[in-house]
Amino acid sequence: MKRRNFLTRSLLAGGLATQSLGLAAPASDSASISPGTAFGEPLIAGPDPANLAILQPVLRPASGYGEISVNDGAWQKILPEHKGMVAFETHVLKFLLPPLPAGAKLRYKVTVFAVTYQSAYKIQRGPLVTSGEYVVTCLDPAKKTTQFVMWNDTHENAKTLAALHEKTRNIKPDFLLWNGDQTNDVYAAEKMANQYICPDGLPIAATYPLAYLRGNHDVRGPAARLVEKFTHSPGNDFTHAFRSGPVACLTMDTGEDKPDSHPVFQGMVHFEAMRARQTKWLASVIEEPWFRSAPYKLLFCHIPLWWTQDDPNREYYNCHKPCRDAWLDLLLKAGVQLVVSGHIHQTAHLPVTPERPIAQLVGGGPQPERATLTHFVADEKNLTITMSTLDDKVVHRLTIDPA
Ligand SMILES: [Fe+2]
Ligand SMILES: [Fe+2]
Repeated sequence: MKRRNFLTRSLLAGGLATQSLGLAAPASDSASISPGTAFGEPLIAGPDPANLAILQPVLRPASGYGEISVNDGAWQKILPEHKGMVAFETHVLKFLLPPLPAGAKLRYKVTVFAVTYQSAYKIQRGPLVTSGEYVVTCLDPAKKTTQFVMWNDTHENAKTLAALHEKTRNIKPDFLLWNGDQTNDVYAAEKMANQYICPDGLPIAATYPLAYLRGNHDVRGPAARLVEKFTHSPGNDFTHAFRSGPVACLTMDTGEDKPDSHPVFQGMVHFEAMRARQTKWLASVIEEPWFRSAPYKLLFCHIPLWWTQDDPNREYYNCHKPCRDAWLDLLLKAGVQLVVSGHIHQTAHLPVTPERPIAQLVGGGPQPERATLTHFVADEKNLTITMSTLDDKVVHRLTIDPA
């Protein structure tokens, strides 16, 4: 029995340098298909335990399956089935998990294999390659405490991503929230696993779930239409809500930073329609008991709803007035205490004023000297939010009392 390694490939570095990640598994051999099928490590996203998915990048047309064990129970096989067919993908496999109990201990692993179709009666399967085992603790709304981390505007900056990952791994958050502009633009499917799942091979969310939000750069380029294949955001329009301990999070997509009618788009975006659906969704989700009962309520959206001043000529660019106009009444009705964003590449804490009825917090930019890690720690007494630079200087610290 041979042992096969997953391979990692750095497309960001522009090359095909490979390195072993040391993930190994028994293999059944097929001489005609190369074993180098998977690369990087998986990512688990949701983050709500009722809506988790595991994503595994692959290097060539492949299929596979996930295996999960919940609370140390028997292993269950998760096939990536859709309309009766099992996924056959060139860049990434996505395994949607069944709804899991809040607070459950989830163990998972992933198996991939190359597939070639020679004829209807000759489908050839390559060696099976199985990842190591990963353990995740599912979010639990009933817990008295939670802590989590936000990144924003990493824009494929390898140094920033490595530093943020190292710090986040040490924090061991309940989940990681990635608040948009993962990329500069999205032009090639073959680069997207490195952009969204395992940048430079980093297992950015293999052992805690990811809450994914799209930024305005992630809607730029023809392959931007594939982003939902390379990440997982339950519900429509990259807009969803979940609760971890005492904190309820709304995560909403602000789309582009220019009007749909701007000539640069040539009619290829229609965020107005998306915004109308989001507004309807918001009106409904804020009435749900799990949301209403949360002591802390936050909105995460990539483009801030407020900046230091409204500029009518740049009303989408620095802060998204159309989203603010569409959502503000509902956010106030919901009791949202803070809007947390990125996009500006400059940090800010804008407290409540008569013109700004909800406080706004904005994270830093992609370069290591501008990047920030935002750490949220909540218990029964308060929610403390600390935004720090990569050299651990505190930029903003604020405390929110329970509602
Ligand atoms: Fe950005
Ligand atoms: Fe942005």
